[in-house]
Amino acid sequence: MKWNGNTVLVTGGSNGIGLALAARFLARGNRVVICGRRQEKLDEAKAAYPELITVRCDVMLPDERARLLAYMNEAHPEWNVLVNNAGIQQHVNVRRASEPWEHYEREIAINFDAPVHLTLAALPHLLEQPSAAVINVTSGLALAPAAWAPVYSATKAGLRSFTQSLRLQLRGTSVEVIEIVPPAVNTDLGGPGLHTFGVPVDDFADGVFEKLEAGAEEIGYGDAERRLSLVPRELQSAAEQMWAGFRSRNPNF
Ligand SMILES: NC(=O)c1ccc[n+]([C@@H]2O[C@H](COP(=O)([O-])OP(=O)(O)OC[C@H]3O[C@@H](n4cnc5c(N)ncnc54)[C@H](OP(=O)(O)O)[C@@H]3O)[C@@H](O)[C@H]2O)c1
Repeated sequence: MKWNGNTVLVTGGSNGIGLALAARFLARGNRVVICGRRQEKLDEAKAAYPELITVRCDVMLPDERARLLAYMNEAHPEWNVLVNNAGIQQHVNVRRASEPWEHYEREIAINFDAPVHLTLAALPHLLEQPSAAVINVTSGLALAPAAWAPVYSATKAGLRSFTQSLRLQLRGTSVEVIEIVPPAVNTDLGGPGLHTFGVPVDDFADGVFEKLEAGAEEIGYGDAERRLSLVPRELQSAAEQMWAGFRSRNPNF
């Protein structure tokens, strides 16, 4: 896949990792659309990078996801790269989980439901493009959970699993499937000031693009890269073997 001349949608592209990736896509000559909930963050991003196209959208809501894709298909019919980046992180003490269910559910809806829904709904369009990609931003916490963020960690493990299935099913098509696995990065995740211990976002994004341009399908950085290296390769071959077996039993799937 060439990383110039594409039209890229970055969810949650108005801040942090999403904005750093969006800026690098722009610098390489791609058209970039970003979405987010807060208009003022979208306006700030646009002031910093005037070529950005901004759309207000809350990916927690299924209707807004559908509206976002309808906009992309209508206004940018050539669009070919979906970056599922929007995410939130909540601390949950399971012994005092007294909030209404909606409080916990929104983390699942934004971090897991949204990328799965957007991917499945975008695929008919993406598969028609000569070259396309789905890029999912998971986390090093997909590999080893942060016990204080148990729902968050589970959404990221779920998204990593979905991404692996997607990659197997789409092998041989025009759609590449890429997973970005960040370590702790200094952004506003969870709220301003909670991730200052993380690596600088620009160093991280530069590292991601180096690997993206080298053709990597799983992109770690720092601690997350080390965690990825600990995953036994047999697990990947097990998924490949199960998929090959399923296809031989179900040739019309
Ligand atoms: N920072 C880390 O240490 C770290 C580590 C591993 C993985 N990640 C992942 O990296 C991704 C980006 O996080 P970040 O660290 O860059 O956080 P961030 O600085 O808080 O940025 C999050 C971005 O997502 C947007 N967003 C959040 N909820 C949204 C929704 N419902 N609909 C649309 N946009 C939404 C935010 O804008 P609005 O709030 O205005 O909507 C913002 O633009 C997330 O998936 C996160 O889980 C981060």
